[in-house]
Amino acid sequence: MENFSLDIVSETDSAEAVAAVCLNQKFMAHSAVSFLWSAVIRRSMSKYGNRGMRYILLDAGHICQNLIVAAEATGNGACPVAAFYDDEVNELLGLDPKEEMVLYAASVGKRPQPKGQCTL
Ligand SMILES: Cc1cc2nc3c(=O)[nH]c(=O)nc-3n(C[C@H](O)[C@H](O)[C@H](O)COP(=O)(O)O)c2cc1C
Repeated sequence: MENFSLDIVSETDSAEAVAAVCLNQKFMAHSAVSFLWSAVIRRSMSKYGNRGMRYILLDAGHICQNLIVAAEATGNGACPVAAFYDDEVNELLGLDPKEEMVLYAASVGKRPQPKGQCTL
């Protein structure tokens, strides 16, 4: 991607498919949105050498943590997900794992209201 913007990779509603490749974790199919973060390992390592791998993993943790904080700040919840089938999740996104692979994921949704509290 040349302009560092979001791009549509598929028009299909893939919530069920995402849950399926994440060990069938059903909450992912019912979430408002799921994020799947991938990395081009070679790109980071060409700049930082072997430390590039470390930086990618640190970065993934920061990104997910920021999402959790943002979800909490807006009255939502986020659940980090690292339990997924590597081959299947990469295939779902059309990634060639020799070049780019999914590292981490998270689903975001509305928190159920505590019983007895009126939301209106
Ligand atoms: C790296 C990582 C991977 C996780 N993967 C999953 C997952 O695949 N499925 C899941 O339900 N929760 C996953 N979690 C969430 C944890 O199980 C836990 O609910 C979350 O860290 C909140 O912890 P707390 O209950 O102590 O606040 C993951 C958490 C981390 C940090």
